[in-house]
Amino acid sequence: MKTETERLPCVKAEKRRGETIRQALKERKLLSTDVRIIADDKFIYLPLTRALTDAELRYIDAAGLLILTREFAILEQRKSIEDIIGFKPSYEVIGDIAVLTEAVNESNEQLVAHALMNRHKNIKVVAKRISPVEGVFRTRKLRIIAGANRTETMHTENGCRYKLDLEKVYFNPRLAGERNRVAAQVARSGVDAEGIIDMFAGVGSFSIQVAKRAPQSHVTAIDINPEAIRYLRENIKLNGVRNIEAIEGDVSEIYARFRNTADRIIMNLPKSAYLFLREALSMLKPRGGTIHFYDLESAYSDASDKNKKSKSLERAIVQAKERLMVKIEELGEEFHVQSIEILEARKVKAYAPYAYIIGIDAKVKR
Ligand SMILES: C[S@@+](CC[C@H](N)C(=O)[O-])C[C@H]1O[C@@H](n2cnc3c(N)ncnc32)[C@H](O)[C@@H]1O
Repeated sequence: MKTETERLPCVKAEKRRGETIRQALKERKLLSTDVRIIADDKFIYLPLTRALTDAELRYIDAAGLLILTREFAILEQRKSIEDIIGFKPSYEVIGDIAVLTEAVNESNEQLVAHALMNRHKNIKVVAKRISPVEGVFRTRKLRIIAGANRTETMHTENGCRYKLDLEKVYFNPRLAGERNRVAAQVARSGVDAEGIIDMFAGVGSFSIQVAKRAPQSHVTAIDINPEAIRYLRENIKLNGVRNIEAIEGDVSEIYARFRNTADRIIMNLPKSAYLFLREALSMLKPRGGTIHFYDLESAYSDASDKNKKSKSLERAIVQAKERLMVKIEELGEEFHVQSIEILEARKVKAYAPYAYIIGIDAKVKR
């Protein structure tokens, strides 16, 4: 591949003064780090981010130095994948596996895979998603394109480690911020020893972060997928958390064991979480508690709307809040619900054009 160059202003200095001047330029953020410094037998050429002012010339003690312009080779590792291959591929990285989305077409797969592995030395496998997230376990099918032939990896997020197999369990790295938010909320809730139920726990993505940040709490982490529970148990050990109990089962069949025990419930099963509100309400303590509810909502905006995107998101949030209120109210009498307060509702991530995962924190008083 031909080395690309960039024409930049630079300082030409005798080699013996080179290091002092390099440091002075670096301190003032005047040294360009995107290109390779040039040196010959006698001189060093230090590339600049821009032309220097008189004050800056005085600062680097420019007497005897020459300021000129010349070509510098652009450093490969400074280039983005887009720079290397000429377009922006759609992918996400989980542990040491890069997963390309269906949007990357077959003729480009190898090009993208090798550029990713060259650019990011920590990527050891490149796979491609060949099915949507589907089924009760919310898993997806992958095809390996380059690197090692495996779909198991170790992912680090917010200081926690997760071992998981991307084909056997659900995991979405784009929820890192949301998990951090919920864990921080539990940590500062002021309740001494919260009882928390993660109804759709997966490999412990929420449970482990919550348990770690709030060691006085007790987390019951339930999942119907035996593989998710196997990894969850391993991840509990990996992270040295003792306050989680991992339970394999269909929450609609086993919830009665946890009736009246939860101060807080996490319901991350967008699309279907509404179907489990009866179980959630019956597991809340008699005085009630907080539900972190995740919903998939799509909302279109009128052609006349000036800012279509933000209008559509606004609508999706309103729809999600209303729907949750109505569903809880329907069950209100049975579970002695006195009030529902929506503490917060926000976009967690975009799902498709005009469709979003909306996160709602709701306080239910019984
Ligand atoms: C969207 S994933 C969320 C996993 C995890 N909370 C996370 O954020 O990574 C939903 C999980 O719910 C589990 N699940 C689906 N139906 C269930 C049920 N009836 N009872 C318990 N778990 C269920 C699936 O196996 C899957 O692991």
